[in-house]
Amino acid sequence: MTVIGRDIQVAMQILSGGELVAIPTETVYGLAANALNVDAVIKIFDVKNRPSFDPLIVHIGTIETLENLVNTIPEKAEKLAEAFWPGPLTLLLPKKAVIPDLVTAGLPTVGVRMPNHELTLELLRAVSFPLAAPSANPFGYVSPTAAMHVNDQLGNKIPYILDGGLCDIGIESTIIGFGDGGLPTIHRLGGKTVEDIEEIVGTVDIRKHSTSRPTAPGMLQSHYAPGKKVYLGTWNIYSNVLDKNKAALITFKKIHPDFDPSRQVVLSEDGDMRTAAKNLFAALRKFDRKDINYIVAELLPEKGLGRAINDRLRRAASED
Ligand code: TXA
Ligand code: MG
Repeated sequence: MTVIGRDIQVAMQILSGGELVAIPTETVYGLAANALNVDAVIKIFDVKNRPSFDPLIVHIGTIETLENLVNTIPEKAEKLAEAFWPGPLTLLLPKKAVIPDLVTAGLPTVGVRMPNHELTLELLRAVSFPLAAPSANPFGYVSPTAAMHVNDQLGNKIPYILDGGLCDIGIESTIIGFGDGGLPTIHRLGGKTVEDIEEIVGTVDIRKHSTSRPTAPGMLQSHYAPGKKVYLGTWNIYSNVLDKNKAALITFKKIHPDFDPSRQVVLSEDGDMRTAAKNLFAALRKFDRKDINYIVAELLPEKGLGRAINDRLRRAASED
């Protein structure tokens, strides 16, 4: 049975014993294990049904921990950590030998981030090891933004869910790597915007998704997928081809007057992208449970958090 609670001591004990705890972060809930304990990390892959070629992000509670885990820190990485940690940004850095190869799927780099959530920061500072944690959902499904989402899907498989309320940001962290000469490349759009990042380190490259590179499945086109077919655009585009009674709508700002309100989610009535990001995954989950066949989702303006939101919607819609 899974216990849902707010007890850091309990979470600490379970993690120290090599078991899993779902943890809240500002982005999405993570499924955490002691990152330095291979037997514990294996359990993450089992519970998520995650292929072992998909590397995990390692979470830390203090900046001083970083140098125990990675060999070198490019200047731009340091600047970004200073500017945005704790926060929704993951840095890919050359790993030290203490990080098991299982965590990085054999890659020479490890993804590290300091999450910005009070409970989880307290937990990370209380334990003597970093926490490996992917999003706490079955592989390929929408990430959880509430303790109940974790319980719905993984409930009987893990002993404890640390309940930190609704995730403040609602989409996963931005992942950034450093190429030759420390040049930054964004590997996954996320909670920290390209504009914010460029303000600190100048122009960055954005890597295109790949449908075929098994080394980074987070880049897989079809990911974050709900069980229903997702179509992108406004209802008007599809009104002649889809059955209105079997469709649900996700819009940015405006409600559609001719549609049953119970089959609509407006992500942010006042057009605030932060609110939209926060509501996105819960909307996909809600319609997944409903008796409908398709979700028609409107794309947001391609700027700020809108880029990351659109990225998730495109992947939810993709069948590759
Ligand atoms: O916001 C987040 O990042 C959340 C919370 C829990 O921190 N975590 C998360 O983890 O989204 P996950 O495992 O669902 O997605 C992490 C992505 C994976 O797609 C993985 O392929 C990529 O990060 N990744 C991890 N380490 C990597 C590495 N060394 N090189 C390239 N990609 C990496
Ligand atoms: Mg994930």
